[in-house]
Amino acid sequence: MKAYRAAILRFADDQTPVYEPDGLLVVGPDATGQRVVRAVGDHAALVGRFPGVAIEDLRGHIIAPGFVDLHIHYPQTDVIGAPAAGLLPWLENYTFPHESRFSDPGYARGVAEFFLDELLRHGVTTALAFATSHPSSVNAMFEAARARGVRLITGKVLQDRHSPDGVRDDTEQSLIDTETLIQRWHGVDRLGYAITPRFAPTSSPEQLRGAGELAARYPSVWVQSHVAENRDEVRWVAELFPHARSYLGVYADVGLLRERAIYAHCIHLDAADRALMEQTGAAAAISPTSNLFLGSGFFDYAAADAASMRYGLASDVGGGTSFSPFHTMLAAYYVGREGHTKTGLSLTPGQLWWQHSAGAALALGLAGVVGNLQPGCEADFVVLNPQATPLLARKTEQANSLDELLFALIVLGDDRVVARTVIAGPSTH
Ligand code: GUN
Ligand code: ZN
Repeated sequence: MKAYRAAILRFADDQTPVYEPDGLLVVGPDATGQRVVRAVGDHAALVGRFPGVAIEDLRGHIIAPGFVDLHIHYPQTDVIGAPAAGLLPWLENYTFPHESRFSDPGYARGVAEFFLDELLRHGVTTALAFATSHPSSVNAMFEAARARGVRLITGKVLQDRHSPDGVRDDTEQSLIDTETLIQRWHGVDRLGYAITPRFAPTSSPEQLRGAGELAARYPSVWVQSHVAENRDEVRWVAELFPHARSYLGVYADVGLLRERAIYAHCIHLDAADRALMEQTGAAAAISPTSNLFLGSGFFDYAAADAASMRYGLASDVGGGTSFSPFHTMLAAYYVGREGHTKTGLSLTPGQLWWQHSAGAALALGLAGVVGNLQPGCEADFVVLNPQATPLLARKTEQANSLDELLFALIVLGDDRVVARTVIAGPSTH
């Protein structure tokens, strides 16, 4: 067992932040050997219960749950900042040509390793990531994540039409490859598999049906895709699937809406779509830096809340512009304001932080496992330095409340704030 003394941030079941200015986090193995939070709370109240346990003194720092990124593309690490008129030209001119390089396992391995190191450097300890359509890109990511002990979920992209040579796959083989990868990787150490149809326009109805059948056969496996991101894309889907009630309806019709199904963007949904998300337990991955960069639109928080939809935050690198959860939370704040201009109210710092940690974990079906530091949670955490820059030191010193402290970190923070990322697996960064 080991303990850490610092300020500690975590979340109560009602989603409100709990802050211990002088806290103690006690970590040790559970019955399976997984390192979990054994106790957490006020230092003075707890310390007597753990005689002989070594305590690392991190006073002056804040321990917080490792961030959870609900949607990110590891092969787009080098696509960040590619300008385009909108989503579809961005895919055609930059993303598809770049992703074709991942047929080379050595290239994929190099990017996977850089990507994971970058995630950890930014304090992200769990991610739901797209690979490419090449099975070797999935193997490269799982191998690199396993070596680092990271909780990582990924899957082979399914795209058997409207895709260029080099990334387009074969309908039947793509489903065989998916099942082979599920059996090889899902549940190995901290790894999970996600059935990954890229989006409705690039999958034939047969491929989508096959993905739905696999989703039914393997209920603990995740599903990830994109929906209703961009108006041209929505129009295209309506032409391709004239009998579907809506874009989201295409996925519903083949059984791809269920618990553990995460849909990136969810911008241009209607009320019936939102109700369907809620009823099926599917969740939205809100990707504000991507939506602002590609000019896709604004996620409607008020409508999502009215429908009791589940959601969490995501970077969506490389449509998204940053690996940093701080940048993503700030962009989400801007987006939230867009929907609240009448009342002037917007998201609170606690809500933003929850959406990128415990809330994202809830969306994944991993509440109480990651994204929080309550007893029993896997001990993935970040050590934050509120004095990382001169301006942050001034601002956080003057904070009169938890909201002011968290807001200063969200608005001014980036990777410089993340002094250390500790993962519950075998290695420490
Ligand atoms: N829709 C289909 N593929 C993609 C992708 O790679 N990025 C984004 N942002 N949207 C998509
Ligand atoms: Zn995406």
